[in-house]
Amino acid sequence: MAENTRRILYSREKIAAEVRRLGQEISRDYGDQEILLVGVLKGSFLFLADLIREISSPTVVDFVRLASYGAGTQSTGIVEFRKELEMSIRDRDVIIIEDIVDSGFTLDCLYNKLLLQQPRSLKICTLIDKKARREIEIEADYVGISMEDGFIIGYGLDHDERHRNLPDIYLVEDA
Ligand code: IMP
Ligand code: MG
Repeated sequence: MAENTRRILYSREKIAAEVRRLGQEISRDYGDQEILLVGVLKGSFLFLADLIREISSPTVVDFVRLASYGAGTQSTGIVEFRKELEMSIRDRDVIIIEDIVDSGFTLDCLYNKLLLQQPRSLKICTLIDKKARREIEIEADYVGISMEDGFIIGYGLDHDERHRNLPDIYLVEDA
């Protein structure tokens, strides 16, 4: 991917402001109730790390690892579980922490799987809600930034496993 084919779409300052707002909303909604945050690896690792420091409610953290993309930029629609939860979510208040919702396949699959484990409540928080290519009707309860279309990288988001370390989010113009 050539350097001149990307431009900053969301700056680190904008991301930090939205993450702070989300943390405040979640803290207000949950108060002193303990929240189990389920991070979806790998893309959400930076978002979760920043978000959890903006939440004042008691939290515990677990991760799942899902993969639906190969090396390309289109969802394959096939969601593979590469790592399962380590904690029981039964009777707990759970929030799924995603980097981005695109077609919705990944989240729909995870949401339904977790629901079977009988959490007390199950909500979804995504940093980015990409609306143009949604194929499954699924809405996040907490949304950082809504965008229409385009492939983005940085702040945990990858293209073929690269660029997760960029502190800002870039639009890849020829992806
Ligand atoms: P979905 O199943 O199509 O909703 O895809 C969700 C997953 O695809 C996310 O968790 C990301 O890992 C990945 N993804 C979707 N859009 C992008 C993007 O623009 N950049 C990087 N990864 C993306
Ligand atoms: Mg990814």
